[in-house]
Amino acid sequence: MEILHTVKETRELVRAWRINGERIGLVPTMGFLHEGHFSLMRRAKRENDRVVTSIFVNPIQFGPKEDFASYPRDMEADSAACRHEAVDLIFAPTVEEMYPVGFCSYIDMDKITAGLCGKSRPGHFRGVCTVVAKLFNIVTPDKAYFGQKDAQQVAVIQRMTRDLSMGLEIVSCPTVRESDGLAKSSRNAYLSAEERKAALAVSRAVFKGEKLVKEKGERDAGRLIAAMRETLAAEPLAKVDYIEVVGAESMEKVDRIDGSTLVALAVFIGKTRLLDNFVCHTA
Ligand code: PAF
Repeated sequence: MEILHTVKETRELVRAWRINGERIGLVPTMGFLHEGHFSLMRRAKRENDRVVTSIFVNPIQFGPKEDFASYPRDMEADSAACRHEAVDLIFAPTVEEMYPVGFCSYIDMDKITAGLCGKSRPGHFRGVCTVVAKLFNIVTPDKAYFGQKDAQQVAVIQRMTRDLSMGLEIVSCPTVRESDGLAKSSRNAYLSAEERKAALAVSRAVFKGEKLVKEKGERDAGRLIAAMRETLAAEPLAKVDYIEVVGAESMEKVDRIDGSTLVALAVFIGKTRLLDNFVCHTA
């Protein structure tokens, strides 16, 4: 496995693979890797000849009061895990390599970034789109893999890829959960023992919502949100940022669950903001 830190070296290596006719899968990450990332790497390994993982905590997708400085980092453990997953290349650039002095080009998007995390974290998706587009340009993957836990991120990247004719396939992979239900996230590392228990209210709300829609036939967004809020209200450490019912592609609010619908939530457990969601496809 190679670990490269510069754009130039990375381009040279992937160019050599391309000349050999090899297919390249990219798993973009911010490191502090967990089972969710490994599931993306395994899928990428099955579907491509080469797997590249990028590890880069991207400063421009964090707001000024957010956790860029404290975001967990462990390059040694991440490298060992990537080697174990048979990743071919880790691209781990510095901030200066990605954003050299004078950098001033960004990718912006309307509409589907207006709500949900886009509303709570202004500028977040501009940072995500910009870094992901750069990674696509550097690694030139055939396919790129993202976790469904960040459902709006997947929808935004899918839209960007289509709108800007980037010509690669975006693969969305199922959320991986701890055995007690909590969705895996690098930010779970922030939780104290007490908060870790409280965080289960988030997945409980998701499972309750999913059951209401899929087993009890609930179609009214307002009633569904109220039921999920009730579960979260029972947990004193949980503070709801949002619970929204939106079209799975458009990310626009809907009153009724009809067709492909995303039910997404962001919840603060203490200072840690956790995301979770489920998708339903109704006739
Ligand atoms: O999901 C993430 O870890 C990040 O948003 C991504 C896609 C690697 C871009 O920095």
